[in-house]
Amino acid sequence: MGEFLKNAWYCAALSSEVGREPLGRLLLGEPVVMYRTEDGTPVAMEDTCPHRRAPLHKGELVGDSIQCPYHGIIFDCAGKAEWAQGQDRLPARMALRVYPFVERHSWMWIWMGDPALADESLIFDCWSCTDPKWATIKGYMHVKAAALLAIDNLMDLSHTAFVHRASVGSKDDLNPELVWERGENWIKGTRVARGLQAAPHQVIYGANCLIDQTKQMTFTAPYNCNVDIFSSEAGKAIGEGQYSEQFLTYNLITPETDKTFHYFWANTRDFQIDNAEFHALHQINGEQLLGEDKWVLEETQLAIDRAPDREEVDLAADAGGLQARRILKRLIEAEREMQPLPALT
Ligand code: FES
Ligand SMILES: [Fe+2]
Repeated sequence: MGEFLKNAWYCAALSSEVGREPLGRLLLGEPVVMYRTEDGTPVAMEDTCPHRRAPLHKGELVGDSIQCPYHGIIFDCAGKAEWAQGQDRLPARMALRVYPFVERHSWMWIWMGDPALADESLIFDCWSCTDPKWATIKGYMHVKAAALLAIDNLMDLSHTAFVHRASVGSKDDLNPELVWERGENWIKGTRVARGLQAAPHQVIYGANCLIDQTKQMTFTAPYNCNVDIFSSEAGKAIGEGQYSEQFLTYNLITPETDKTFHYFWANTRDFQIDNAEFHALHQINGEQLLGEDKWVLEETQLAIDRAPDREEVDLAADAGGLQARRILKRLIEAEREMQPLPALT
């Protein structure tokens, strides 16, 4: 397994996925079990029983504790073994690692590194997912590709005219103005295109005019990307003219292994927010759009696996993905210099 940045918050699940049924998920190569206590407090712990390594998420909750499905040891939500059959005393090492785990803006966030560094103010801000002035569609998909391929994809929206030509891409969105801004742990590209043919989804949503569109894509370490899209009738401001839309999207990428990742996504909009019919259609369209990216990401990973040493040739539009790689490399190297995590006692 490759090296992942550990001291960072990662999205581990949708809020709705974590409840009174244990959920097991491999995150950064580590098996994690997630559930809620009876009062709703979220819990995330190591998903491998220290006895004979059974997966705890296949077990059952007993009050706020979880019982291993193999020989029945019960662990409390602090990871401590509290009962085993036929045994009065349990070794202190019979314990599970517990991860900092926080619910924020309808997502569950986990910190897989040193718990002492888990500052909740560093959680990626998905504010519009729970803002009543915005409507949200969201989902999860498992992708058989390296997480960095998703960052390349999200930071280079020149793929839109091709990969998404049946959904949100305009065929003639080929010559935008593109400006980059960068900070220590982020990079943002602003892509402006004018006088575009309306994309298929925009036509479905009522566009009957040429479109001016600004797309902003922002990578923030470890692997989160905002893609914000503002469209209006050509020559008109947002909110004026025959057609106007604003989407703020969140792409929360969490590596599962070196070559697979969890893709949590949300698309929030500030129009048609109370229209249930539009909402249902938008959910279907959002899933179609993400499926288009999944296809191309998995195909490119297969090509990498066939010839891992083959060099890729970069274009100017790759600046965002390349800078994101540099940021991650620097953070991982800095983490390597730090003290190792304390062992479980
Ligand atoms: S493997 Fe969990 S109790 Fe034996
Ligand atoms: Fe895409």
